[in-house]
Amino acid sequence: MRSVIDIVDLSVEEINGLLKTASDIIKNPKKYSKKCKGKKIATLFFEPSTRTRLSFESAMLELGGSVIGFSSASSSSASKGESVSDTAKVISKYADIIAMRHPKEGAPLVAALNGDIPVINAGDGGHCHPTQTLADLLTIKREKGGFDNLTVGFCGDLKYGRTVHSIIGALSRYNNVKIVLISPNELKIPSYVKEDVLDKFNMDYIETDSLEDSLPSLDVLYMTRVQEERFTDRNEYERLKDSYVLNKEKLNKAKEDTIVLHPLPRVNEISIDVDDDKRACYFKQVENGKIMRMALILMLLDIAKKDKSKFTLNDNKIVYNKFKCSNPVCISQTEQELKGMAKPVDNGNYRCVYCDKDF
Ligand code: NCD
Repeated sequence: MRSVIDIVDLSVEEINGLLKTASDIIKNPKKYSKKCKGKKIATLFFEPSTRTRLSFESAMLELGGSVIGFSSASSSSASKGESVSDTAKVISKYADIIAMRHPKEGAPLVAALNGDIPVINAGDGGHCHPTQTLADLLTIKREKGGFDNLTVGFCGDLKYGRTVHSIIGALSRYNNVKIVLISPNELKIPSYVKEDVLDKFNMDYIETDSLEDSLPSLDVLYMTRVQEERFTDRNEYERLKDSYVLNKEKLNKAKEDTIVLHPLPRVNEISIDVDDDKRACYFKQVENGKIMRMALILMLLDIAKKDKSKFTLNDNKIVYNKFKCSNPVCISQTEQELKGMAKPVDNGNYRCVYCDKDF
């Protein structure tokens, strides 16, 4: 059984395969309209969403399957104290595949380890969001022709912006991609992304706080919202929320063929006068997200048909029950019965397998 919790759960060949299926879906949508007949997706959304949930649901409907689920924790048994493990075991009896969004980091991993059907992480806290990455990749492929040799700038909240963490993981697999990380000092990329991805794959990257200075060099500009819901200090959010605003005038500094991406929702970070610029691709990303989710659902259900074994983490470096993660938004902090899982990292620390925080 396969699940997709992190973008690196997909090999580069699989990502390329999904991109290929996506272009076939675009050419021949009819061919796919009954592929999931009789199959059900459960969309378990413990946190607000417009795009991602409806995108999974319309993806399954366009494949001829059906949808069950809920769109907030308050309408699920989580409000009665049910654990993620129990929810996953129960839903495995009703559905063929789960898409889960959860405010606690690592929750979809817990669902994958305990349920009997494939789980897709639809966003866990400030951690990962692999299917947004698939949407982003299809958009870059369609607009720029491929990924090699691109300079990609990420601007905004790189600390809590889970979509950025996932797409950097994907881009690390392509050749000669340059990364420009544009953020205020307080919202810099987490150290595990630096160590596990940027440094590990020897990626060419710089950190800066200036959007204006970076713009002329970029092939792709990926803007993000400052993630209000992840801040513990309201004043800090207020101080940082308008750190970057892309408007038409600023965009004049970019190349003619730079593309502007944003996972949406936007708040202030892209002014609406950019929307009619041909470089603005954020609404195209929405459509591409649905198509890539169709391709991913097909792939995972196909694997599950042949391989019914339980999803496991085959990593002999994992140390069980020795450490308890101290990250307050880690699922292992809220669900006390979960066993601790940590992996040693180079500097002598351990990294929590659920949420990737070091201790
Ligand atoms: C993003 C998310 O949920 O992380 N949105 C999305 O899935 N399209 C980005 C965000 O909320 O800022």
